[in-house]
Amino acid sequence: MARIVGGLTTSHIPAIGNAIARKMFEDPYWKPFFDGYPPVREWLDEVKPDVAVVIYNDHGLNFFLDKQPTFAIGAAPEYRNDDEGWGIPTIAPFKGDPAFSWHLIDNLVHDDFDLVTCQEMLVDHGFTVPMQLFWPNYADIGIKTVPLVINTVQHPLPSPRRCYNLGKSLGKAIESYPEDLKVVILGTGGLSHQLDGQRAGFINKTFDRMCMEKIVDDPEHFLDMSIRDLVVEAGAQGAEFILWLAMRGALTGKVTARHSNYHIPISNTASGLLCLENAA
Ligand code: DHB
Ligand code: FE
Repeated sequence: MARIVGGLTTSHIPAIGNAIARKMFEDPYWKPFFDGYPPVREWLDEVKPDVAVVIYNDHGLNFFLDKQPTFAIGAAPEYRNDDEGWGIPTIAPFKGDPAFSWHLIDNLVHDDFDLVTCQEMLVDHGFTVPMQLFWPNYADIGIKTVPLVINTVQHPLPSPRRCYNLGKSLGKAIESYPEDLKVVILGTGGLSHQLDGQRAGFINKTFDRMCMEKIVDDPEHFLDMSIRDLVVEAGAQGAEFILWLAMRGALTGKVTARHSNYHIPISNTASGLLCLENAA
């Protein structure tokens, strides 16, 4: 049976993709950020997951404001990136696992989560940047992926509770898959940031620290928050924290934080890195 080995969170900002392309790992601005990742890569080298389910938000590459699903999932053999206008060079495609995707779709729809199913799907920086950070050699090792998109772009957004419950359903679905796959779940984006309006550049370190602590042992702390509460505390784009909550909902066992790093700012964003191990 498939097993959930853990959950990872990371910021996904496009500037990271640029810094990776330019190999700016030792640059004084970037070093404290990139230095957070080697311990997580060591953990991944140890655990060797077969599949990554990547919970992220599409920012306008695959879906735009004319058609914006609340939840969408990939069921394609391969996922490509495309030019989003950030100056990031196009990178190698990511492998999919259609059979596993369809198993997840069957189970999630059965649990009343009506996902848009995508047999063709472009993946944007919300997906590609975290994949590159955790698996710089993803194309060589051939790790398989399932992109799972939650709308954080066009209101109304799904509530923290609904995203956490989607995660729970996802966790159950993964563990009922008959193949012996080791699955890691990513929740990308966050932490506090606001890119537009009068509060552009807003960062809330106190709230971020609380999020990084409580999501480990007490994720239900967030379930009565509204999207508006999240926006007030974490900024308009800090609402991406719902992606972390969906990831956390999918961790079914005893959860331990193996590594964490918090760094402010990169671009306009507080970066939060977490490696959560999920023991049966
Ligand atoms: C930035 C942050 C994001 O979450 C994003 O999707 C794009 C840009 C930023 O801080 O630059
Ligand atoms: Fe984002």
